[in-house]
Amino acid sequence: MNQKILTKKTNRLKTFYLNSSIQGKNGLNKSNIYHGNLILVNKDNPLNTKVIHKYNHFVPGVLNHKDIYLEIETYFKLNQLIKYINSGDSIIPISGYRSMQEQKQIFTDSIKENGMDFTQKYVALPGHSEHQTGLAIDLAEQNDVIDFICPNFPYDGICGEFRFHAGRFGFIERYPAGKEELTGIGHEPWHFRYVSYPHSEIIQNFGFTLEEYVHFLKNFSFKDDHLKYKTDKYEYEIFYVKESDLMSFSTILAEEKRPYQISGNNVDGIIITLLNQVVRKSGVKTYERYH
Ligand code: DAL
Ligand code: ZN
Repeated sequence: MNQKILTKKTNRLKTFYLNSSIQGKNGLNKSNIYHGNLILVNKDNPLNTKVIHKYNHFVPGVLNHKDIYLEIETYFKLNQLIKYINSGDSIIPISGYRSMQEQKQIFTDSIKENGMDFTQKYVALPGHSEHQTGLAIDLAEQNDVIDFICPNFPYDGICGEFRFHAGRFGFIERYPAGKEELTGIGHEPWHFRYVSYPHSEIIQNFGFTLEEYVHFLKNFSFKDDHLKYKTDKYEYEIFYVKESDLMSFSTILAEEKRPYQISGNNVDGIIITLLNQVVRKSGVKTYERYH
């Protein structure tokens, strides 16, 4: 069951989704590494299709396009963002969730049509595409002609506005210019990845790619200092638990009273995001520090 904590900030709703079923009966285990909003899927890190299909729930009808699917939390947050900027039909979804078969087809078709160099730059190898997780969406500015692989999604106008607010709704532009060496993919202004809030905002503030962020979080182990991120209402506490600590950390987590989210990094561990309530003037009790 998903439990939601809703907070009002200015005139928007922020949602912190908690998935209590995410841990499994016997606490944390290796499969936790391979699913969640922060999984790093790239040329070096294929997705674990079996785990993704067990935990991710895909829903059709993304922005009223019945053939386009997304993972359910991604679906709702994209809807919220589009509503917030009031873009109507001027931003349209091009590609969301893809099966392995679809990614293979796109890859081989593109080799035929565009050649190997282009394809390797703009199409992930089957088994290595974020689209296969349901957490990625390609968007286009409405136009008579739209390129399926490289849709136009400019930096100004309504698309610029989408990009400006994306972080507040949990999305990042995943393949920025100048970071091609790190991501292994060409500059893709149209491809957005859901990583959830506040990670999206931290990534944006630091100018990180997801590769850099996942690496950066290893500095904040559960045994040491945690990363703190404060908004006007909440303090988020973020830290990394490496694979060999999962069992012992399960016992600690079982006692945790504060709301938290778990995501694998799809490499070698998991990331915990805790919600610390901050004392307000009304005297609401704070949660105690985790460590
Ligand atoms: N266009 C992105 C890299 C993909 O195929 O997943
Ligand atoms: Zn894409």
